[in-house]
Amino acid sequence: MYPTAFLSSLLLLGGASASELEYRQASTITVDLSRTFQTMDGFGASEAFQRAVTMKRLAEDQQRKFLDLMFSTTKGAGLTILRNGIGSSVDMRDDWMVSIQPRNPGGPSATPNYVWDGSDNGQVWVSQEAVKTYGLKTIYANAWSAPGYMKTNNNDANGGSLCGVSGASCSSGDWKQAFANYLVQYVKFYQQEGVEITHLGFLNEPDYTTSYASMRSSGTQAQDFIRVLRPTLDRNNMTHIIINCCDTMGWSVMNSMLNQMRSVEDSMGVATGHAYTSGPSSPLSTRHKTWMTEAADNNGAWTSSWYSNGGAGEGLTWANNIYGAIVNGNVSAYLYWVGAQDRPSNTNSKMIRVVNRQVEPSKRLWAFANWSRFVRPGAVRVSTSGAPSNVRTSAFRNVDGTVAVQIINNNSGSARTISVNIATAGAGSSFVAAADGVAAWVTDGSRDCDQIAATLDASGRTMSASVPPRSMVSFVLRPAGSKTIA
Ligand SMILES: *[C@@H]1O[C@H](CO)[C@@H](O)[C@H](O)[C@H]1NC(C)=O
Ligand SMILES: *[C@@H]1O[C@H](CO)[C@@H](O)[C@H](O)[C@H]1NC(C)=O
Ligand SMILES: *[C@@H]1O[C@H](CO)[C@@H](O)[C@H](O)[C@H]1NC(C)=O
Ligand SMILES: *[C@@H]1O[C@H](CO)[C@@H](O)[C@H](O)[C@H]1NC(C)=O
Repeated sequence: MYPTAFLSSLLLLGGASASELEYRQASTITVDLSRTFQTMDGFGASEAFQRAVTMKRLAEDQQRKFLDLMFSTTKGAGLTILRNGIGSSVDMRDDWMVSIQPRNPGGPSATPNYVWDGSDNGQVWVSQEAVKTYGLKTIYANAWSAPGYMKTNNNDANGGSLCGVSGASCSSGDWKQAFANYLVQYVKFYQQEGVEITHLGFLNEPDYTTSYASMRSSGTQAQDFIRVLRPTLDRNNMTHIIINCCDTMGWSVMNSMLNQMRSVEDSMGVATGHAYTSGPSSPLSTRHKTWMTEAADNNGAWTSSWYSNGGAGEGLTWANNIYGAIVNGNVSAYLYWVGAQDRPSNTNSKMIRVVNRQVEPSKRLWAFANWSRFVRPGAVRVSTSGAPSNVRTSAFRNVDGTVAVQIINNNSGSARTISVNIATAGAGSSFVAAADGVAAWVTDGSRDCDQIAATLDASGRTMSASVPPRSMVSFVLRPAGSKTIA
């Protein structure tokens, strides 16, 4: 413990009982800026499978409310990643995503016959708003499948594999190059619309066969395709586009795929996995950044509760899920499944629902907000220690120099004073907060990220605030000499 923190802890102790003393003594959390971990890319969600279409049908004020809730850092979650679905279907029946080449052009070497409707299943609208109105910089375009005629089962749904990868030969020929060209064309259509796709994925849940767009792939088969896709992107002046792979159904199965893909490791950008069959409780074995690209409570009945009984759809649960993925799973991004939708479904598969044409957020969205507003792209996670039991802490240094600290208190009972001390030792530890440079926000059952009192000691390195039970508190410290707080 450092002298200043020790002093402020002592000051807090006057008149307390022995057990309270023990409890309060444990409540100084140390942030060590010299011990760094992963760099963050952000937080996000998707409007794929025509969720975007349904949101665009709403009245203009409700469209704006939806977009604000998703992307605004003052009125909503401030999400920084949008995951779009690259369509593979022949039309837009049900919630299918129509392909940019719905019909077979006549074989893998035939002249392509691309079609662009300027909407891309409603996603062009959301993308343009995200980028132009809210300054979002990261668009992840992700194919659930290749069009059916490029696959062994001649159907974009029900599994099947891309013709031409190992163990998947088709009488129609090898479609690897044609599929790579197709993905490049999709990126070009978005460029025409003024939207730069930054990350490109060609698989979604390749370990799962289902009645909607789905395509099977092993790691070896993904490797076969990356060997074609990377040079195709590069030849098309798309060297900056990062290849994401493989959006497996669960996190741990992604390790098995990665083990079959070592020879294309240099061509891959981000290793991606979902959190359904297993969650990101430990890092993937890769040197690349990793993203948890899809999680949701797909079965629970809609709830907008912050905390009721620790249920799968509650806000505090998601604040904790995000925490675990970042701190234990080493992820650089965390994405919910659907952002918002107006479709007849009463589950928690989305963060925002529509009731009688009115947009309504859940506390899941606000759990994301409590992370995404303060931990901005480029933030580097730094170490924390000393959290009392049932309290989870994490900290980040943002690109603008601010330090953001998250405290998730899963204890019931009464509020506790928690001090956060920035350690002095080690490289990059020269941080001193401006005298007026500390702020804290609380979210619990009754408060919606209300600003609460936080004090800074004379050293500029120790701040304290009262942390209520079952809450998430975010501290932000602004360094001396800077003007704005994150
Ligand atoms: C290559 O891509 C960059 C960035 O997207 C763009 O600025 C540039 O104009 C492109 N050049 C050509 C020849 O297309
Ligand atoms: C965490 O991810 C980074 C890449 O973002 C990687 O360099 C680092 O080795 C990973 N850490 C662990 C413990 O796997
Ligand atoms: C928080 O505590 C409740 C019980 O009080 C428990 O049901 C829930 O699983 C806990 N959440 C976490 C993330 O530990
Ligand atoms: C944090 O979550 C609460 C809801 O639990 C929400 O009202 C509040 O606005 C969120 N904070 C931020 C900064 O978005």
